[in-house]
Amino acid sequence: MIIAIDGPAASGKSTVARALAQHLNLTFLDTGAMYRAVTLRVLAEGVAPEDEEACERIAGLIDLSFDGQGRVLVDGEPGEPQIRGAAVTAAVSVVAAHAGVRAAIVPKQQAIAAAGGAVAEGRDTTTVVFPEADHKFFLVASPLERGRRRAQERGEPQRAGEYAAEIERRDEQDRTREHSPLLKAADARLVDTDGCTAEQVCERLLAYVLGGA
Ligand code: DC
Repeated sequence: MIIAIDGPAASGKSTVARALAQHLNLTFLDTGAMYRAVTLRVLAEGVAPEDEEACERIAGLIDLSFDGQGRVLVDGEPGEPQIRGAAVTAAVSVVAAHAGVRAAIVPKQQAIAAAGGAVAEGRDTTTVVFPEADHKFFLVASPLERGRRRAQERGEPQRAGEYAAEIERRDEQDRTREHSPLLKAADARLVDTDGCTAEQVCERLLAYVLGGA
């Protein structure tokens, strides 16, 4: 079974997808982690994130897989926590916007899911990577709610407003880029998560999946 979950930054996709994968005994496929892993290698090799050809070469050669906890392995080595660092976070949207990088990474995502099913989450999993997924969801929440969640995660609840502003900038970048912009697939189920805990959202998705709705 393949379940695809898309949505904007901090919409709760990762937490929900991870929990759903655990419940259903499927691989948690964190597609953003794969673009972060490519970016980590790009920076380590001293390549400029704007250099499409060099980024594409790196994306083609890198071996990406996931451990049982859904953590990305880069050429067999743990990519966490470096892929979450500030340098990677600042450069990843530039690297992920290159068509050549996406063309190299999408088949790797499809191969991982084909090997036993997956809950995939990202920006284009319902539209480009798994348009034929068994279930497709698009999670949304207001920028303020997402700012609050992100601030809470980072242990800085007083900075919710700043995080909300950063999230709105990311939304704009993700929505307006040329290749695989963030879009809701017509046949994806829209799930508004404002005011819901991750557990509640996971329960709702599970009900759709198990109920065959
Ligand atoms: O979800 P995240 O913050 O880990 O994503 C990191 C970056 O990768 C972000 O700029 C969006 C991009 N991304 C993408 O272009 N396509 C995906 N399927 C997943 C993430």
